[in-house]
Amino acid sequence: MPESLIDQLPKIVAEGKKEVEKILERLSGSNRLTLQTNEYVLPSKDKSGLYRGQMKDISEQEWHNRLIYGDNLLVMQALLAGDPTTGLPSMRGKLDLIYNDPPFDSKADYRTKITLPGTTIEQKPTVLEQFAYSDTWKDGTVSYLRMMYPRLVLMRELLSEQGSIYVHLDWHVGHYVKVLMDEIFGKENFQNEIIWQRTRVQHTDSNRFGNIHDSLLYYSKSKDRIFNSQFTEHKSEYVSRYNKTDESGRKYRLVPLDAAGAGPARAFFGKMIDPPKGRHWAYSQENIDEFISKSLIVLTSNGTPNIKMYYDENKGAVVQSIWSDIAPINAVAKERINYGTQKPEILLERIIKSSSNENSIIADFFSGSGTTGVVAEKMDAGGLCQT
Ligand SMILES: C[S@@+](CC[C@H](N)C(=O)[O-])C[C@H]1O[C@@H](n2cnc3c(N)ncnc32)[C@H](O)[C@@H]1O
Repeated sequence: MPESLIDQLPKIVAEGKKEVEKILERLSGSNRLTLQTNEYVLPSKDKSGLYRGQMKDISEQEWHNRLIYGDNLLVMQALLAGDPTTGLPSMRGKLDLIYNDPPFDSKADYRTKITLPGTTIEQKPTVLEQFAYSDTWKDGTVSYLRMMYPRLVLMRELLSEQGSIYVHLDWHVGHYVKVLMDEIFGKENFQNEIIWQRTRVQHTDSNRFGNIHDSLLYYSKSKDRIFNSQFTEHKSEYVSRYNKTDESGRKYRLVPLDAAGAGPARAFFGKMIDPPKGRHWAYSQENIDEFISKSLIVLTSNGTPNIKMYYDENKGAVVQSIWSDIAPINAVAKERINYGTQKPEILLERIIKSSSNENSIIADFFSGSGTTGVVAEKMDAGGLCQT
């Protein structure tokens, strides 16, 4: 009987570790990998367009975003080693965010459409359909996991102490990659499995539920990770709770001030009021006095203190781990470039905003059509994209 995947996992991990050890040893040797600069594309000074610069125009001190062509295992080795000839210092421990959207072991080939402009005004552009990449693996999931393991270890080496990694997968291999990532990054650094509803199409398979989501495994290098909460608009049911309007026209709602667990009476408008039985007032006397001075406390008809919560002070609904508000790229979207597995820019925008800060360096080692690089550049973040 062939060995099961579970039986093979320890071997995959042991072999992956050996491979990484060899790679890391080579880094300090003389025959380390270097990058070759092919082309500089510089934003023009006023950012109104692009111009192609010469190598001599470029100061080696400045940070430049890079699009690197090659197998990411080799690219990561070069990044770890650093490359003085192209002005790149070692990137070990320097990346604050890595987003990866690797193949999913979907056993499919993916294509992309390339539009070549017509040579005359009358000529229509030529659209070529081209092979993009194959997601078929010789020994199935085992080969896939063998490919992923050493790459994930090198990514960990590249991450900064405040860094995070998101690996975008689905039901094909997501659960197996999670086991590898627990081993590499530590279970304690697993932050979320984000469920992204990637399609609005109603699947009509009557034998099971429609598979309409991808899973993003989010880990950090340590507990000191960068994280900025994101907000979306509240649902209309929530907004309708703000059913009162003050004299200046601002919408608000009244929220009781008590919370679970017994506590003492506090003074409201010069009168001591007990909290309901077994409850306490959620704020200190100092806070309550401040709220009263700002006209934020109201006594209801039965004398219970409530606090005014204004709608315009609400940042919105905090984004949770289920993302159903990011639509797939529609057929006529401006960002659509007809790359088979292109991801929406807004998805990357949310990840970049959540897990990086200004001056953070961001990388995507399975860049495909380059969505991460495009978004990072638009947001003025530093980016490394491998393709
Ligand atoms: C799912 S696509 C990424 C799509 C991308 N997120 C986008 O928005 O277009 C996966 C990409 O990983 C690339 N890839 C697969 N194996 C790779 C490897 N070993 N090194 C570098 N790139 C690889 C494929 O060629 C493909 O471009």
